Amino acid sequence: MSAPRVKRPSGAAFCRLLLVLYQVGRHTAEGVWPLPQTRTTSAERYPLKASGFNFHYARQCSVLDAAFGRYFSTIFPDYASDNAVLPVNKEESFSLVVKLDQEDCESYPNADSSERYKLSVSARQAALDAETVWGALRGLETFSQLVYQDDFGTFFINKTEIEDFPRFQFRGILLDTSRHYLPLQTILKTLDAMSYNKFNVFHWHIVDDPSFPYQSRTFPEISKKGAFHPMTHIYTQSDVRRVISHARLRGIRVVPEFDSPGHTQSWGKGQSDLLTPCYRGSTPSGTFGPVNPASASSYRFMAQLFKEVASVFPDPYIHLGGDEVDFSCWKSNPDVRGFMRKMGFGSDYTKLESYYMETIVNITSALNKTSVVWQDVFDYHEHIPKDTVLHIWKGLPAEYKKELGRITEAGHRVLLAAPWYINHIAYGQDWRHSYTVQPQNFSGTEEQKKLVIGGEVCMWGEYVDATNLSPRLWPRASAAAERLWSDELQTSSVEQARPRLQNFRCTLLRRGIRAEPLVVGHCRHEYQGV
Ligand SMILES: *[C@@H]1O[C@H](CO)[C@@H](O)[C@H](O)[C@H]1NC(C)=O
Repeated sequence: MSAPRVKRPSGAAFCRLLLVLYQVGRHTAEGVWPLPQTRTTSAERYPLKASGFNFHYARQCSVLDAAFGRYFSTIFPDYASDNAVLPVNKEESFSLVVKLDQEDCESYPNADSSERYKLSVSARQAALDAETVWGALRGLETFSQLVYQDDFGTFFINKTEIEDFPRFQFRGILLDTSRHYLPLQTILKTLDAMSYNKFNVFHWHIVDDPSFPYQSRTFPEISKKGAFHPMTHIYTQSDVRRVISHARLRGIRVVPEFDSPGHTQSWGKGQSDLLTPCYRGSTPSGTFGPVNPASASSYRFMAQLFKEVASVFPDPYIHLGGDEVDFSCWKSNPDVRGFMRKMGFGSDYTKLESYYMETIVNITSALNKTSVVWQDVFDYHEHIPKDTVLHIWKGLPAEYKKELGRITEAGHRVLLAAPWYINHIAYGQDWRHSYTVQPQNFSGTEEQKKLVIGGEVCMWGEYVDATNLSPRLWPRASAAAERLWSDELQTSSVEQARPRLQNFRCTLLRRGIRAEPLVVGHCRHEYQGV
């Protein structure tokens, strides 16, 4: 897109004014990622001094106090607090005043939390109004991105009005801590970066076939035998609490996934009788398959495990997995075959899987949790409870669009992950693919489209650990962050997004996030780590 041509003679001054407004609008837009829903700006700018700057909220709120501390250092990264003794000239003072409609600061963000905010920046003050503390956090993030420095190091912010809210309510990132163990600090740092991008859900794919790092209170043997190492490669209960509280302070939900009946090899090491013994002919082969769906003890175990998980993780959602179940071991096992006959499933093993998943969904419903399952569960079994959320992970656009149509037609809420498996990398600017995804662009009614509650960027861990997680995630996940937050029409151009995303990537570097380059170029503050 090129700048509008200005015709010289007629109304030249007016045209020049338009051009200035156009450029200002453009520059301001460059400053905030993901793009706010509505904003107006003027070329009036105000200097900010760390020593004269303060955040203000009239009541006591620990979430805001913590955020004020963080954002002060983010906005003034080089400020040493002993400067604070210098007397402050009134002309140099600036207050950001937060007001909330709902003053509750004690709870957790949940599936219906409002993240709406209104930010109004004028001379010597800014007003940040939000319905909830979670909205205030989003507004603080926006405010921090509006501040810039000139070549002499002076901080400025321009006169601005922003009204903002997310397009989709669920904007998640999946981390996989089973294929590779991710140290606690790596997870916490990812949560920081998520908050800069206004992501609000951490989907913790905590266990899987290769390892079981979750240290269960009820079943400590499982991580003892099933983690890569029983002491160093686990998440203790206190680690999990750290993650949940770090996330909460940033308005991020933590949705745990305990995927079954497949993907459970590591569970079996410390929990005998859970997995199905596979047979070769009439004798056990010594290998094991998915969770044994024919045994009552499996369901008793699951009920106890999910009772614990439901109390450890406060989020209303639990992810139950249900993907990629291999039937060959079930088919080989005489007990399972006997159960099939007893239940009248014939030779249709998808019925057995459905029976298993339905039982697990009932267990978590009884614990007052909303179940999320991978799309496979719907593909086999269209009669799962209506409030189950389906997670779409398979296929090219033509396929996942069909699936979006089918599942929403059945009245289920859906999450879209298929186009955002960003553990897959390609040479060049592959963020473009993430950016051009249109989650509601499938054939269906308006009601169906509303059932798309959001999307998720998945970072599967086969080839990812703490060494390469951050540059693989950022800024590639940022493309999805804007798709999920911002207005569809205002963010339809990859060309307009590119310089803004390059700029945002520089912001991430400045904040210590190892975000890889998008394309040729430089940042004013290059990454300083080693
Ligand atoms: C802020 O205002 C200045 C003029 O005072 C203008 O040059 C600049 O483009 C504006 N910047 C932003 C980020 O809006």
